[in-house]
Amino acid sequence: MKDRITEVLLQEIDALTKEEIEGLLEVPKKADMGDYAFPCFRLAKAYRKAPNLISQEITEKIREKNYDFIEKIENVGGYINVFLDKEGYAKSLMEKICQDNYGSSDIGKGKTVCIDYSSPNVAKNFHVGHLRTTIIGNSLYKIFDKLGYHVERINHLGDWGTQFGKLIVAYKKWGSKEEVEEKGIEELMKIYVKFHEEAEKDPSLDDQAREWFVKMEQGDEEALSIWQWFKDISLVEYKRIYKLLGIEFDHYTGESFYRDKTQAVVDTLNEHHLLVESDGAYIVPLDEYNMAPCLITKKDGSSIYATRDLAALFYRKDTYHFDKCLYVTGLEQKLHFAQVFKVIELLGYDWYKDLDHIPYGLVSMEGGKLSTRSGNVIYAEEILHESISKIYEIINEKNPDLPDKEKVSRIVGVGAIIFNDLYNQRIKDVIFNWDKILNFDGETGPYVQYTYARCASVFRKAGNVDIDSVKDIDYKVLTEESTMALIKDIERFPAVIQDAANKYEPFIISRFVMSVAQHFNKFYHDCQINVDDENVKMARLKVVRAAMNTLKDGLDLLGISCPEQM
Ligand code: ARG
Repeated sequence: MKDRITEVLLQEIDALTKEEIEGLLEVPKKADMGDYAFPCFRLAKAYRKAPNLISQEITEKIREKNYDFIEKIENVGGYINVFLDKEGYAKSLMEKICQDNYGSSDIGKGKTVCIDYSSPNVAKNFHVGHLRTTIIGNSLYKIFDKLGYHVERINHLGDWGTQFGKLIVAYKKWGSKEEVEEKGIEELMKIYVKFHEEAEKDPSLDDQAREWFVKMEQGDEEALSIWQWFKDISLVEYKRIYKLLGIEFDHYTGESFYRDKTQAVVDTLNEHHLLVESDGAYIVPLDEYNMAPCLITKKDGSSIYATRDLAALFYRKDTYHFDKCLYVTGLEQKLHFAQVFKVIELLGYDWYKDLDHIPYGLVSMEGGKLSTRSGNVIYAEEILHESISKIYEIINEKNPDLPDKEKVSRIVGVGAIIFNDLYNQRIKDVIFNWDKILNFDGETGPYVQYTYARCASVFRKAGNVDIDSVKDIDYKVLTEESTMALIKDIERFPAVIQDAANKYEPFIISRFVMSVAQHFNKFYHDCQINVDDENVKMARLKVVRAAMNTLKDGLDLLGISCPEQM
């Protein structure tokens, strides 16, 4: 319909292109301003006339043509308001949104996107910051997948670096096998902290740590077997969280994967005369670009984070031939990625343009009691379990006889956290306020899931009609305002997904599902579904089905599932 209205306007307006007209065409907030509104202000200059005169002239011309899909056309203060023939419009919208896989597309066909996300640091707890990259990265994967892209989901574990030298020293001095086996990461964190306390008093510990890391880099068997053990122990904990979230990766290629690939980075940089010695270390100076230099090798010859990221990029380009390589991390790594991407550019690879850093803001508790910046870490697993048990209490109170209460609480509790995380622009900080996050009537995950369950219950009450196989539905009966508002909202789905992909912003999807849920509830309130008139009943059930599918698919793009009952 938007297309048809654009064509109609294009016939009368020669000063704008089709794309420009389409871009200006609005969907008014209020129904009494029409289904579409076109502002004429941009035309004032070209036509040397006041916008309200222009809108009047165009309106009259269109009116004379008597289009059958236009019920009414009016000009109001520089706007052209178009009212569509509701019956024809409802029919064409319903036919569109009831197509299979509405929202999917193949614009990404044949293209590969690498997404580097989650990537926790081995031997360290998985905190809410890592929860954000995990949730955002997973949603971006789903969004690109929906658009037909091939996605490589990469977990670039922080499993290499001098910190492991420190851990080995600490373990040998103060650790015990039993404690590490029993307590896992918690114990590793404890001895790591102890290392730092002791190293303040005895700096020779730092030298020992460096030596152990050099041994690791040289392939020393003992060093590597302790390191591998720490890594295995950490992965058990991380995978528990991924399972709870329902998230998977295609590759667990952490930093250590590139340890035999960093020399090639050094050689390539040398061939391009980009490396400069500085106090025994090697760097790529970037002052010309207003950045600190990119450190490549340290004095003792060991590689660093950036070296391994460069190696990873060569590997990914060679192996996956990506069209885009995305990195989801906190904002504090902005400079790091700017440096790495710049080095790729300086090497003369034009695919530096396909690299993007996708930063996000901090997480804190309302009241500022806990915040990642102040060093008080909130653990992801704790927050997820807390959410699940709080939801369990709510369900127990509201609906004690619900079957599968535990499973439903898990889906809703996890969904609440994910939804809250993805409800605003990435870069905004996320604040935890339990009352808000878990409110079944608020702008929350549970509210959307509840709306989905409500749709499911409509079908249960209608005797589980197989509405998908009912043919010849008379959509002309769907002319009530709240029905039209709902189906018009659903129609936006494909455009919303593309917008979210272009901007790397899952919040565009979460706002959309919230809007659909709100429109559905208005429709549900206004229109009885199980009515005697079969025509009306079937058409309305079909609307419920379309809303239900959209809510499910939309939530799925965020990484959230839907219980059929809650
Ligand atoms: N391990 C890093 C951290 O926890 C994130 C790694 C991001 N990915 C990358 N290729 N550098 O901060």
